[in-house]
Amino acid sequence: MSEPRVIVALDYPSADEAHAFISQVRPTQCRLKVGLELFTAAGPRFVAGLVEQGFDVFLDLKYHDIPTTVARACARAAQLGVWMLSVHTLGGRSMLRSAREAVKDAGRRPLLIAVTLLTSHTARDVADIGLTDDIGSGVRRLAELALDAGMDGAVCAPQEAAILRERFGEKLILVTPGIRPAGAPGDDQPRAMTPADAIAQGADYLVIGRPITRAADPQAALEEINRGIAGG
Ligand code: C5P
Repeated sequence: MSEPRVIVALDYPSADEAHAFISQVRPTQCRLKVGLELFTAAGPRFVAGLVEQGFDVFLDLKYHDIPTTVARACARAAQLGVWMLSVHTLGGRSMLRSAREAVKDAGRRPLLIAVTLLTSHTARDVADIGLTDDIGSGVRRLAELALDAGMDGAVCAPQEAAILRERFGEKLILVTPGIRPAGAPGDDQPRAMTPADAIAQGADYLVIGRPITRAADPQAALEEINRGIAGG
């Protein structure tokens, strides 16, 4: 893993609103995550523009489809120059392998990050989709599948980072959302952890949205988080 460790979640409804934020930060301070909302609104040109500005972009579209379709989407994402992209482990082994194969010769190969179970899933949700193991075992099993199929890392809650780190060592890059600096509002993140604690648990990269994007001074909020990580 390398600096900066913070990936700011650009959860904005339009390119204009995202640009208003981006103009306040630099690629040395953070990387940027573009998810479903902003990608649907602003599209691939917007993503390519961020790459041109020197930002590392995590394209978080959680690809989950037949292997050929996912492979072709991954190849297009690699052409955009993204640094990291997400695929869903529930798409299965051959889908994951096709994703890996599709980006292997890219000029700058994007890191492939696997989503295991969504942390919003309850035990009931997991049972509804037919998984018989508990959430923790399901996450470990799917992370094992991700590694076996050639994924570079996994998204996990900070609470799961230590378990995955212990089990997989440095073989998986761990990306954790659900981060709140001490004293920041929890929003809808009931199990939030501070940036320094998440790093101590074994997280490589931290996805952080509102504590930075909704701060009165985003630049200062980001700097404070970066200082906390370096000091922690
Ligand atoms: O604003 P906040 O820091 O809560 O944003 C977190 C980001 O991480 C959002 O883009 C959200 O979709 C994403 N995320 C999450 N929890 C997960 C997976 C992704 O909060 N389990």
